[in-house]
Amino acid sequence: MKDIAPYLRRRQTLLRQMDGGIAVIPTASQAVRSGDTHYPYRFDNYFHYLTGFTEPGAVLVLIAGDEPKSVLFCRDKNIEHEIWDGFRHGPEGARLAFGFDEAYSISRLDELMPQLLANQPRLYFALGCNAQWDKQITGWLNAVRGQARTGVTAPGEIIDVRDFLDEMRLFKSKDELATMRRAAEISAAAHRRAMRATRPGMMEYEIEAELLHEFRKSGAQAPAYTSIVAGGANACVLHYVSNDAPLRDGDLLLIDAGCELDGYASDITRTFPVNGRFSAVQKDIYEIVLAAQAAAIVVARPGKCWNDQHMAALRVIARGLIDLKLCKGSVNGVLESGDYKRYYMHRTGHWLGMDVHDVGAYKQNSDWRALRVGMTFTVEPGCYIRPAADVPEHFWNIGIRIEDDVVVTANGCEIITAAAPKSVGEIEQWMAQ
Ligand code: GLY
Ligand code: MN
Ligand code: MN
Repeated sequence: MKDIAPYLRRRQTLLRQMDGGIAVIPTASQAVRSGDTHYPYRFDNYFHYLTGFTEPGAVLVLIAGDEPKSVLFCRDKNIEHEIWDGFRHGPEGARLAFGFDEAYSISRLDELMPQLLANQPRLYFALGCNAQWDKQITGWLNAVRGQARTGVTAPGEIIDVRDFLDEMRLFKSKDELATMRRAAEISAAAHRRAMRATRPGMMEYEIEAELLHEFRKSGAQAPAYTSIVAGGANACVLHYVSNDAPLRDGDLLLIDAGCELDGYASDITRTFPVNGRFSAVQKDIYEIVLAAQAAAIVVARPGKCWNDQHMAALRVIARGLIDLKLCKGSVNGVLESGDYKRYYMHRTGHWLGMDVHDVGAYKQNSDWRALRVGMTFTVEPGCYIRPAADVPEHFWNIGIRIEDDVVVTANGCEIITAAAPKSVGEIEQWMAQ
């Protein structure tokens, strides 16, 4: 039996923050892949965060005020459909199993929504997310307005419900962290498996298959994003996903892959030599990126701000690029001119949670926000050197990123992906076994 207490708590938290009014939060629709086949169904994160309900065709309605109420609309039970597509709770089953106050058939949505919206002062809804839902909401509001002569009024104000939910989702609770730790563990095991399997002459997709095998055999539902398995020069393509090239002796392999478990993402990158031994120049760049990550992790703690980790990583990378004569001048000069961007063009991390690039504001009142316990994010510096006339040839096509997932704790942070080998020594030893 699913523990529904966290979902009830979140609904109550949102209801308490609402200034009266009504919130409408639909789940995701099923997406057609081609013809009559569909992509594997994936619920909407806001809906799932508040309900734990994983069926398509459902809408959550929260009514604030003196007697707050949560109402679910969902698919009816239907033996014929259940024979073909599997179990459906049906409204009454869902109400009991998930602790809603009321539940109705989704087929009654258009009939009941104008009644629920009537006389509510404000509507909390994520306008602009989905054209279909925007249209439906407009239709219901117009239906209420059409009843004006009977004395009812429509909500005079629409407030983006995501402003409240994003802030709630930014701080992970104990139960969320337990899921995220497990997702991180599975992904770390997948990276260990991939390192062990890699040999010169194999194809990138063979290594991708090792990752997927570990994800699924451990119970993760899917990759949290398309795995990047990028050998040699492909590692310099930041969003490389074709994964169809052969792996060459002497090249590095960059793998950015993480599973999704029960709605929560993990996100790990490791870069290692295809033949199990780093060359001297690969090691030089690797140690810079590793030191940049270590410097960023030191400032992933309460009292520091979101951008401090990026600045800490940047300083180490700028210093390293100057030492290798890939940039000229002082560290401050390189940071000011932005010359480092030729080799390090992304930021050092992002919030992590139900989405791999999770919700939550990075700034508050135009300042980078302060780090607080329960915030969860990635730390992922990199260095990518493309062939160019002014770059010595031995650096060409080296692409390295090292990415871990961290949770801010009272005294610093917990690295939940630490089980994936990371130092040059650890990697070479793991691959040699
Ligand atoms: N895997 C996506 C990212 O690292 O941001
Ligand atoms: Mn990431
Ligand atoms: Mn990643």
